[in-house]
Amino acid sequence: MCGIVGITSNKPVSSSIINSLKKLEYRGYDSAGIATLLEGKINEFKCEGRVKTLENNISKIKMLGTVGIGHVRWATHGVPSTLNAHPHSSESVSVVHNGIIENSSTLKKFLVEKGHIFKSQTDTEVIVHLITEYLKDNDLKTSILKMLKKLHGSFALGIIFKDEPDLIIGARRGSPLAVGYGPNENYLGSDSYALKSMTNKISYLNDGEFCVLKKNSVDFFDENGKKINKKILELSSEEGNYDKGDYKHFMAKEIEEQPTTIKNCVNEYIDKINKDINLLNFPWKQNEINSIKLIGCGTAYHSCLMAKHWFEQLTDLDISADIASEFRYRKNKFKKDNLYIFVSQSGETADTFAALDLCNKNDMKTCSVVNVVESSIARDSNFVLPIHCGPEIGVASTKAFLGQMLVLYFFSLKLAYLRKEINKEKYLKKIQTLLKLPDLVKKTLETETQIQSSCNSFVDAKGSMFLGRGASFPIALEGALKLKELAYIHAEGYPAGEMKHGPLALIENGMPVVVIAPRDKYYNKTISNMQEVIARGAKVLLITNKSNDEILSENIWQTVEVENIEDDLLPFLITIPLQKLAYHSALKKGYDIDKPRNLAKSVTVE
Ligand code: AGP
Repeated sequence: MCGIVGITSNKPVSSSIINSLKKLEYRGYDSAGIATLLEGKINEFKCEGRVKTLENNISKIKMLGTVGIGHVRWATHGVPSTLNAHPHSSESVSVVHNGIIENSSTLKKFLVEKGHIFKSQTDTEVIVHLITEYLKDNDLKTSILKMLKKLHGSFALGIIFKDEPDLIIGARRGSPLAVGYGPNENYLGSDSYALKSMTNKISYLNDGEFCVLKKNSVDFFDENGKKINKKILELSSEEGNYDKGDYKHFMAKEIEEQPTTIKNCVNEYIDKINKDINLLNFPWKQNEINSIKLIGCGTAYHSCLMAKHWFEQLTDLDISADIASEFRYRKNKFKKDNLYIFVSQSGETADTFAALDLCNKNDMKTCSVVNVVESSIARDSNFVLPIHCGPEIGVASTKAFLGQMLVLYFFSLKLAYLRKEINKEKYLKKIQTLLKLPDLVKKTLETETQIQSSCNSFVDAKGSMFLGRGASFPIALEGALKLKELAYIHAEGYPAGEMKHGPLALIENGMPVVVIAPRDKYYNKTISNMQEVIARGAKVLLITNKSNDEILSENIWQTVEVENIEDDLLPFLITIPLQKLAYHSALKKGYDIDKPRNLAKSVTVE
């Protein structure tokens, strides 16, 4: 979850590196740094804080040099500090790294015994000294190969050398790395997004591969040093709008974009003429699949839980949903009629990618639901279902969550119909209802004013609970996650029926509790659970849908009613006030909404 970039060119590179680092800040923003090579000398500058700070600093020192590397950091080993910022350099080598070197302590001990002096607390610094050590007695390529064989763990590397005036080495194992091709210059980057402003011609390294970039040539090698060829891909023209416009934050913009992104996704998948869901050349017959395993992290996992509910309601398939970091260490039963669906906004999440890799190694059917079609997870899946949301910059996922749920809903509905578990009439009715969703999402955004007034009780609270049953339980988890990651308030999503089995003890007088109780088949039971927490002093914010029926309960502190729609689709509407609640709570607390502390947009370490 750091970002790396490298450029070798016939002109000075520092400003292009800085611009690319700005695009990579979503991957980590504890600290930033750059190193360039000028007349046989490595010039390195790095600092704590954002890329802007780095840019301001180096503008005073005129960093020249036509070869350079840059880095934005999300700390894994060593506190966020200038000393621990990348690049890490010796007199002859400079390195930027994304990932974790798991045997760094052993290597450090070996290198210290060889007389190497370490300056930082990072795992990355062992790479600098290891390659420096090998270069004493080996040529460059041999030194690279020896180093790569010594490293355990995950890495995407960019390396420059004092004695190699126009050369950058890139290497990949477990963390994404892309190469871009330009006029009289070539690029290295953590992902295509970092390179998009300079080129639309991209190649991707696979695990174990490394590359040698010069300004007029790029060579790729496998883990044994054998030269290999790489396809040059043209980046998708789906250029997203990467600025905030009039919005105060990307997150605010991305919440408000949801009617549009939902509409785009509906248009991509629903064939309105034939009134059918088009799954874009789905490669398997429905009778080849008897079990579906949904896998993701964080918000993406919540959309997996939501999809599990829909698949259960609409089909007789065996369904499970797993957190990726748990799935990959379980004793999984890999059967040929299993379909594994990996949900990931960025398509770069290390835990999800590792789970996919495990399934690929077992020759399983794999499908990914992603927002970035050039991403590692998309490229390594048998089949991809894009969510078409455009770039999601805010670290807290909003429009991508609705997009993930929507594509998974399309998938469950289509599969139910193909398996004849719902009839044509029901299928067509549900498709018709889906066409109404964008407008109802737009209308539900108007609940913002009601929600804003609720925030005061949350921002000063010691903690809060989000309760729901059935389809509302994944949304309770998502609402709690949003409040945690934006307003840094402890919030717990919990099955409403489970409160009496222990967590009810947490309820104190005045504690804010969000109860999600749409008028679905769980409504009465959830209202009873709501009364249990009110009786113990909770201040309940009830999220339900519009109805003429009176809610048979007093002392509800506040009620927010979303628009009416068929039960299947209520989760889309109920999510919106919860996104707004977290946003306005963080706003009131004055926190950085687009880049919350300790987080990053794409978690590319395990
Ligand atoms: C979402 O609000 C969180 N920032 C985080 O949980 C995120 O959903 C998770 O890291 C998975 O990311 P992905 O969808 O890019 O795989």
